[in-house]
Amino acid sequence: MEIIHRDGLARIGRFTTLHGKVETPTILPVVNPNLLVIPPKEMKKFGAQAIITNSYIIRRSSTLKEKALKDGLHSLMDFDGPIMTDSGTFQSYVYGDVEYTNQEIVEFQRSIGSDITTILDIFSKPDDTYDQARNAVMETYRRVEEIPDYSGSMLAGPIQGSVYPDLRKQSAELMGGSRADYLPIGGVVPLLENYNYETLVDIIVSARINTNLGKPIHLFGGGHPMFLAMAVYLGVDLFDSASYVKYARDGRLLYPEGSRDITKIRDFPYWSPLFGKYSPSEVKRLEKDEKTVLLSRHNLAALFMELEEIKERIHEETLFNYIQEKSRAHPYLYRAFMRILDHRENIAYFQDISKKSPFFYYESTSLLDPSLSRLMKFSIGYIERNRRDTAIVPADSWRPGVPLKKEILALYESNPLNVMLEWCDMLIPMELEETYPVEQHLTSSHSDEKTFIENYNSIAFLVKPHLVRYLKDMVVDPENKAARNFDLEKIRTVADFQFGIGSGLALFPEDSTIIKSRSTGRIRNILYNGKITGTMRTMDGFFTLTTYGGEMLRSATLYPGNRVVVGRDSAEYNIKGFNVFFKFILEADENIVAGNDVLVVDQDDRLLAVGKATVSGKELLSYKEGVAVKVHHAISAHLDSS
Ligand code: GUN
Repeated sequence: MEIIHRDGLARIGRFTTLHGKVETPTILPVVNPNLLVIPPKEMKKFGAQAIITNSYIIRRSSTLKEKALKDGLHSLMDFDGPIMTDSGTFQSYVYGDVEYTNQEIVEFQRSIGSDITTILDIFSKPDDTYDQARNAVMETYRRVEEIPDYSGSMLAGPIQGSVYPDLRKQSAELMGGSRADYLPIGGVVPLLENYNYETLVDIIVSARINTNLGKPIHLFGGGHPMFLAMAVYLGVDLFDSASYVKYARDGRLLYPEGSRDITKIRDFPYWSPLFGKYSPSEVKRLEKDEKTVLLSRHNLAALFMELEEIKERIHEETLFNYIQEKSRAHPYLYRAFMRILDHRENIAYFQDISKKSPFFYYESTSLLDPSLSRLMKFSIGYIERNRRDTAIVPADSWRPGVPLKKEILALYESNPLNVMLEWCDMLIPMELEETYPVEQHLTSSHSDEKTFIENYNSIAFLVKPHLVRYLKDMVVDPENKAARNFDLEKIRTVADFQFGIGSGLALFPEDSTIIKSRSTGRIRNILYNGKITGTMRTMDGFFTLTTYGGEMLRSATLYPGNRVVVGRDSAEYNIKGFNVFFKFILEADENIVAGNDVLVVDQDDRLLAVGKATVSGKELLSYKEGVAVKVHHAISAHLDSS
């Protein structure tokens, strides 16, 4: 699986099958081989890249089986794109045991030319006992491991474990490390049918963060447009949807926020393939089969329209804002959203250091956005570390993006206090005024006193018995006018936030030179001994390091801090400025933040290059395809101008 773009756990990715590439996230419409409601090849027009059908149904019908074995699955389905086949597990869950063994059914899928074959896993129901669920996990694992190696189609190994978090974790780890190269999350259909999205959120999170991130993740049965965005936000890449036909049969129309009954609507929405062609009352009067076909078309359009919006949101890095909006579409979705926020610490690990889009502050719930977690922790740690008196700059005394007032700077420089800015009902170190998302945010200015008091009290509690006061109550001490320099403190604090505590001192010694932009007055380059160590980016206020700065950081920080270790084959290219590919990485610091600058070193800890990590530390070791570090400065490359 190759990552094209990411927004936290969500990703636009790509993988290759025997019948071409699939770009994720995507939905595989479920096609019943006995009954093609919409011809599969027509589904491409709606945006479907691949479809899913059931090998068990094909095998049980002698006509279908013979045709599939003779002409192949793609001819049977009249579809030339990737086809995934399921195994009969779901039928055994609904009707009891099936008559084929695991090996037989996989062998059959291979012989008819399926692109993604599925083992006969054990469906673990939400009401299974712990022992039943554990047996399902272990037996499913045994079954994936008994399948002979095969170079053709991909092998799907479902993650089971019912509602037990430790079993879901164990299953995710086992299947992630198994020979399966495609990981569906199974056993969740009953939860989806009951709109139990909260439990589903727990299951998806534990499966996603504990498995091999280099393999595509599929949510079996998860193709309802309501929950799609939240599932993608949690890292699901693929869905299958039978809902487009099921709802159509019941006379129901899907919409991005839910569904409506054909008998109750006034007209079709403009995006519907039925809009302008039929009126709802005309469709209502049609024969059942004809009505099902038309409503299925509408439903497929709704699914793929929602999917397109989700992909756009990943691309612009606003998927969190989108699920926040969606959470208001239905109380069950709101519940699911709140449960997602309960998992914010797990999700926070996967957030990029900064986003293309600003942080949106609506009201106090916005502070639970996982992308704020790093800033919150740093702000508390800042006070804990320094343990000195603290002064507060109230929200009405400064504005993000506008230079701080001279009086505030003078007070800062003459009083060696922690100076905290009131920002979105939080308190943050003043030195981070330009760092993402402090400057890059949009606020409703809906101040919530209760939240602010809570945040204020947690800070006040930390500094006790030290003093907390407002800066306006303080004076510049004439004896102590330049006790410290704001610019130097600022670059060091940003570096500590970006690379870890102590990095500021290592990168920017006392006699560093700070160059500011003539037009904006903002810090641009930092020099030491006449050489550039780093450049503060206007976009997000973080640093881009040169190899000179990289070497200062490397020599001052212990292994594996901020390092990506590559083998000899790669080193000779990286030292010249070529990017680092995943497959050449030997080790990586787990604390690396996606999008941050990292030190590319060889096995003897010699610096080769500095570049931007495309994913987080844990993910650096999971992926096998694509660029892991985009090198921007290398030891022996002309592009290193420092
Ligand atoms: N379809 C819906 N749920 C499942 C599942 O858990 N396993 C398989 N193989 N197919 C499914």
